Amino acid sequence: MTIAPENTAAQHTSEQDTAGESGITVTRINGRIGAVISGVRLGGDLDPRTVAAIRAAVIAHKVVFFRGQDHLDEDQHEAFGQLLGTPIAHPTVPSADGRYSLAIDSDHGARANQWHTDVTFVPAYPAFSILRAAVLPPYGGNTLWSNTSAAYAELPEPLRALADSLRAVHSNAYDYVAVRPNATSEALEQYRKVFTSTEFLTEHPVVRVHPESGERTLLLGNFVQRISGLNGQDSRQLIDLFQRHIERPENTVRWQWQVGDVAIWDNRATQHYGVDDSDDYDRKLRRVTIDGDVPVGTDGRRSTLLSPSEVPAPSFGPASGASTAEAAA
Ligand SMILES: [Fe+2]
Repeated sequence: MTIAPENTAAQHTSEQDTAGESGITVTRINGRIGAVISGVRLGGDLDPRTVAAIRAAVIAHKVVFFRGQDHLDEDQHEAFGQLLGTPIAHPTVPSADGRYSLAIDSDHGARANQWHTDVTFVPAYPAFSILRAAVLPPYGGNTLWSNTSAAYAELPEPLRALADSLRAVHSNAYDYVAVRPNATSEALEQYRKVFTSTEFLTEHPVVRVHPESGERTLLLGNFVQRISGLNGQDSRQLIDLFQRHIERPENTVRWQWQVGDVAIWDNRATQHYGVDDSDDYDRKLRRVTIDGDVPVGTDGRRSTLLSPSEVPAPSFGPASGASTAEAAA
């Protein structure tokens, strides 16, 4: 479905909207991002009208939340994911027992308390992520999302023009020790061995044109190393300038998880942040990631993989971008 940028569904969605004949109710919870969807039991057997209504709500609101989906197991979570696109494995983190479902567990040392967009170190990074809460701490552990399209739109025109002209290099080999000075040696070892088992460098436009909504979105986040053609200090200052708009509270939503909740976000129009404030309590979420396509900048230039020469096949399933390679060529 295509939504013209001047006529986004978000602008015209009332606070509560029953989406056509699908039976779902979409309730907006913030001005710029986030909606709660009720009236649906997620799974692999949803009818196409309901799936289309959910997809449209994700595109319009950037992240949508469902309560009470306790019935979902790994199989049903993946089966639902297949209704939105092609599930893909993480490029470097092996999945548990040959599943697309990825464990986001507090005891794996891979805390996500940095603003980021999932897997932007490869060109065709995921279009959607579907996150399910399995085990939660007694307090804390919220997740925040930001609308990177709203962040772009609020920039004054000279800064939008500057952003339009820039490209940035993203990598999974970021300075882990600098980001996590208190990381345990176990977490550090895990990071080195698994997350960076293949080191990726990808150049993306700083502004991508959303392939479904046509909106312009800022494409930055924690995997950005530098702005192409600039030195380190200039890069950092420009990244910080744009990132500050992304992190403004007006552009964000904060979700307090309950067991059985599901969040689906448009990974092409958001960043997110997992708040690390649950001390040593367990927090286990499961993520199914849906394949994306290669971003295109405002000048029509596509993202390029700088290193390695191609995205290697993950431990199983298609490599990122494989399912859309033909369409994007
Ligand atoms: Fe993430």
